[in-house]
Amino acid sequence: MKYNFHEIVDRKNSDSIKWGNLEELYGDKDVLPLWIADMDFKSPDEVIEAFKERADHGVFGYTWKRDSLYNAVIDWVKRRFNWDIKKEWILFTPGVVSGLNIGVRGLTKEGEKVLVQPPVYPPFYRVIHNSRRIANKSPLKHNGERYVMDYEELESKIDEETKLMMLCSPHNPVGRVWTEEELTRLGDICIKNDIIIISDEIHCDFVLKGHRHIPLASMSKELAERTITLMAPSKTFNIAGLSTSIAIIPNEKLRSIYQEEIEAMEIDNITIFGALGLEVAYNNGEQWLSEVLEYIEENIDFAVDYIDKNIPEIKVDRPDGTYLLWLDFRGIDKSPDEINKALIEVGKVALNDGRPYGDEGEGFFRLNIGCPRPILEEGLKRIEKAIKSL
Ligand SMILES: Cc1ncc(COP(=O)(O)O)c(C=O)c1O
Repeated sequence: MKYNFHEIVDRKNSDSIKWGNLEELYGDKDVLPLWIADMDFKSPDEVIEAFKERADHGVFGYTWKRDSLYNAVIDWVKRRFNWDIKKEWILFTPGVVSGLNIGVRGLTKEGEKVLVQPPVYPPFYRVIHNSRRIANKSPLKHNGERYVMDYEELESKIDEETKLMMLCSPHNPVGRVWTEEELTRLGDICIKNDIIIISDEIHCDFVLKGHRHIPLASMSKELAERTITLMAPSKTFNIAGLSTSIAIIPNEKLRSIYQEEIEAMEIDNITIFGALGLEVAYNNGEQWLSEVLEYIEENIDFAVDYIDKNIPEIKVDRPDGTYLLWLDFRGIDKSPDEINKALIEVGKVALNDGRPYGDEGEGFFRLNIGCPRPILEEGLKRIEKAIKSL
């Protein structure tokens, strides 16, 4: 192992939304933040060195999208997912949520419906609501072992006004990495009902052993023609603050609509550090990624084991991917507000309340385990203390 992920990096005075805002958000600067999805690890050495060198140059004027950027994306997607993509399919966006927004605005009209699978990452609803579209919800169901899609229910929800689906793959917060069979069934429904898919694959690089991420658009020509794939180095290499993401759109018509939206919003640019981070991380960050994945896997085992043994009131599935655990507190006879209050005031630990993820998230909290193990262990002890106080 080259990297030491046990190392605690003090993020308190580093303009981190997770660590720097505790007093305002929770009224207490000693709360341990295990909420928003970035990690507490340093990025790959290669990225840090490249930034230092670039910073030393001292001039940071406008930049452009050089060929090497596209090549870094093309090579990454080929190496990791065995998907051959072309340079002209790739568009850059300031973020994956911006990418969702651009797609929804460009490909649907006001009042039309967008399929989503709750419980899901809250900005999915925000994007739909802010653009005056309607969320058409087909909740995931839990089969006793894991969350699965309810295909019959999903298909029955599709009507004349439903034009688009926002897929979360891998799924935040439930941690599923959808299998080939699951994606095929979903894809068939979308093809049959002429639904365009925006596939948010931002967590595609966080897949645990025994699972494989399959880009939906890589599965068939038909799916490639109706899918916009959103990916980014941001989560993967812990460079989310650099606001640089990609949309991969094989279909020329969809791509030109998407590009027009980007131009209409005047966001067809890229930042010097965002571009550099993407290129260096994708080209040289693979060793770091494989080590961080090992560490995350161990953290997941540690957390699931700790919860099973010490806080059996909480139920948790071992995720297939992501560094997020979706904790089910519904066995505790207290309201989410009471639980949250105990977490903050007694345990002094901040998780994401499940309610913004949809009605199905009520009674759940999301735990971010992308941190050094001593922090995770401390966080789990704090959750335990809060629960025992109830
Ligand atoms: C599913 C999903 N999409 C998008 C994002 C955020 O993307 P960005 O910061 O690039 O807008 C996140 C971050 O947690 C996420 O989980």
